[in-house]
Amino acid sequence: MATQDELKQAVAWAAVEYVADRVPSGSIVGVGTGSTANFFIDALARLKDRIGATVASSEATRRRLAGHGLRVLDLNEVTSMPVYVDGADEITPRLEMVKGGGGALTREKIVAAVADQFVCVCDESKLVARLGKFPLPVEVIPMARDYVAREIAKLGGQPRLREGFVTDNGNLILDVHGWQIADPAGLETTLDGIVGVVTNGLFARRGADLLLLATPAGVRQIGK
Ligand code: 5RP
Repeated sequence: MATQDELKQAVAWAAVEYVADRVPSGSIVGVGTGSTANFFIDALARLKDRIGATVASSEATRRRLAGHGLRVLDLNEVTSMPVYVDGADEITPRLEMVKGGGGALTREKIVAAVADQFVCVCDESKLVARLGKFPLPVEVIPMARDYVAREIAKLGGQPRLREGFVTDNGNLILDVHGWQIADPAGLETTLDGIVGVVTNGLFARRGADLLLLATPAGVRQIGK
């Protein structure tokens, strides 16, 4: 039986093959954050001379990419990016996601917005019929912490401050428990409308385009 790390490694290699086959030489590749993204970064190093550069979705990712000698650009230097590769905490068969377990949701959403295609890389434990078992991360401006928490409680969520954690943007994370999310895109919009919320971890209005899903029987593709 493959371990979860072996599945993450397998899907990372599949994503690098995808990039090698589908992305024109010299392109910019957007890179996500987390343990699966780390396997992808390590595998991407072999394409160092083929891809033009990368854009990182967090400081941790930037350091890891640079450590492999991969060129990392500021997003403001980039006008087109064919692909963004990242993991997820949960993903549905409709390719809506919960992200932000690593606290990088805001930069992930920004880099993904610039990319033509979002390729999500996961092991099969992340595939769910309905989002919400994984607590939903919400990045908030520090002075708005309690106000946003009260507004989320009115919506039926149970927000808990992620203790001792500050995002790369200098903000806080509220992890919202207790939601079975029936309308991911609707809730994404509602949460974005609360003053003081920077971003929420629902990636539904712009979900993934392709899911590479590692299973013990091999890597499955969902989407295109
Ligand atoms: C980080 C993320 C990650 O993609 C998500 O937490 C999945 O991480 P992992 O691959 O370690 O399970 O959104 O903010």
